[in-house]
Amino acid sequence: MRAVVQDVYGEADVLQLSDVDRPAPQPGEVLIRVVAAGVDPGVWHMMTGRPWAMRPVTGLRTPKIRVRGRDLAGVVEQAGAGVTAFRPGDEVFGTTSTGSFAEFATAPAGRIAAKPANLSFEQAAVVPVSGTTALQAIRDAAGVRAGQRVLVVGAGGGVGSFVVQLAVAAGAEVTGVCGAAKAERVRSLGAADVLDYRTEEVDARGPVFDVIVDIAGNRRLSLLRRALTPRGTLVLIGGEARGTTLLGGMSRPWIAAPLSSMFSGQRLVGMIAKENADDLRALGELIEAGTLRPAVERAFPLARAAEAVRQVGAGHAAGKLVVTI
Ligand SMILES: NC(=O)c1ccc[n+]([C@@H]2O[C@H](COP(=O)([O-])OP(=O)(O)OC[C@H]3O[C@@H](n4cnc5c(N)ncnc54)[C@H](OP(=O)(O)O)[C@@H]3O)[C@@H](O)[C@H]2O)c1
Repeated sequence: MRAVVQDVYGEADVLQLSDVDRPAPQPGEVLIRVVAAGVDPGVWHMMTGRPWAMRPVTGLRTPKIRVRGRDLAGVVEQAGAGVTAFRPGDEVFGTTSTGSFAEFATAPAGRIAAKPANLSFEQAAVVPVSGTTALQAIRDAAGVRAGQRVLVVGAGGGVGSFVVQLAVAAGAEVTGVCGAAKAERVRSLGAADVLDYRTEEVDARGPVFDVIVDIAGNRRLSLLRRALTPRGTLVLIGGEARGTTLLGGMSRPWIAAPLSSMFSGQRLVGMIAKENADDLRALGELIEAGTLRPAVERAFPLARAAEAVRQVGAGHAAGKLVVTI
């Protein structure tokens, strides 16, 4: 089968279109004919091998898994031993463990769900990682309630556009932080107000936000806390610019947040999303009800997947990029 692979860590030019063996489903997995694959910063991390802290898992010197891509939407080709929930021909979305920039991929049955009926494969493929992260941030980490004021930093990006919509759906009054070019788009997702990070800092209005979801990850915690009410919750999701080389953006949720919240009534939660079928089904229900809609900014053919990853790595995507197989 055709797949986009890499044999060394590096920038996007390490990605090559190649012929590789089709993966075989292990017990508990399904083989999926991939129709579309979402692109998110996680793919860039896997490609570059950065931050270093992830290498014991991804491969110390070279990537253990050659095929890139994680999000997918496609059609079940074969159900592995013990899988009863899916049959050949089922249209699904979720995350793969073998790489989704490929004609075929396998996925654990517990990480896929039926594709929302009102979405194309391209739209469905951009939901799993970003949508699951947003759902777990708003529902679990922050527990957003009706009437709360929520600030979303990085509102125009892949995760942020889901966070804005889910917070609005929970009844919150949402302020999105983004560049001026994305202001209208963020308002169209339901944000009541938009703050341009080039002209106004997040604490300019004082400690008024009950919840802050920080996806951009490039501000000091002290600054974010000045915008938070005394008993507010700060959820840390992303971070490319801050953090050590060893831990990358993870140094904030893992080290700085627990230290910073030790002597304060404010709650700081560092969040790592856990992909699972229940949350995919919950997202699918919201999408089919019209409460949540994924925004695909641009589609790339498989042969140009490297271009999509390079663009996401630059950090200014508006909505989501997708690779079509
Ligand atoms: N913890 C987890 O489990 C988890 C899960 C998924 C993703 N992540 C991480 O979350 C981060 C974002 O992911 P993503 O998919 O949303 O990326 P993305 O689609 O590239 O979006 C990033 C957004 O950040 C915005 N941004 C850049 N500088 C900003 C600033 N100073 N203030 C406000 N916004 C700014 C960009 O908007 P402009 O173009 O307007 O600058 C862009 O829309 C990444 O670090 C990713 O690794 C973490």
